[in-house]
Amino acid sequence: MNTLVVYDSQFGNTQRLANAIAQTLREYGAARAVSVNQPESTELEGVDMLILGCPTQGWRPTPAIASLLENIATESWRDLKIACFDTRFHKPRWLTGSAAVRMAHALQLMGIAPIMPPESFFVTESHGPLASGEEARAVRWAQQLHEKVAESHTLLLAR
Ligand SMILES: Cc1cc2nc3c(=O)[nH]c(=O)nc-3n(C[C@H](O)[C@H](O)[C@H](O)COP(=O)(O)O)c2cc1C
Repeated sequence: MNTLVVYDSQFGNTQRLANAIAQTLREYGAARAVSVNQPESTELEGVDMLILGCPTQGWRPTPAIASLLENIATESWRDLKIACFDTRFHKPRWLTGSAAVRMAHALQLMGIAPIMPPESFFVTESHGPLASGEEARAVRWAQQLHEKVAESHTLLLAR
């Protein structure tokens, strides 16, 4: 499996998780984390799984991630396994909003269904740090993503 993690990050917390997720998935194939501001973020040649991560800001994704979602060629994303995560405050979602939920919703409107529900990881303050245990939880989430993809391949082979 070849995974691309595209992230935005103002203070480095989401970047840290993006790197941890990519490192976890390197056990199963190629995986790299790339900032949404780098040109490689739209290079999807050979990519099987695309993971989008960004901080929740003002209840929504950052402008760079929103712009990526607005400008994608839907066809080129349709065959990808896609998942979304965000970082935000550890409060009820109706208070904080969630960039990941918004990203997943935008994808669904384009007819693209993420392979897992959107996930949030928590920071203790705007600048961070990540709450205790959140990096380990992101590693487990990455493993679950891998299991989900492996499961869908098994089902396809069994048909
Ligand atoms: C301008 C701004 C708006 C924010 N709005 C929200 C918000 O609506 N909900 C929330 O839970 N956190 C909010 N936060 C906190 C961010 O989610 C937090 O800074 C982010 O998770 C840190 O990730 P980063 O280090 O990758 O930038 C906001 C932070 C900033 C700077």
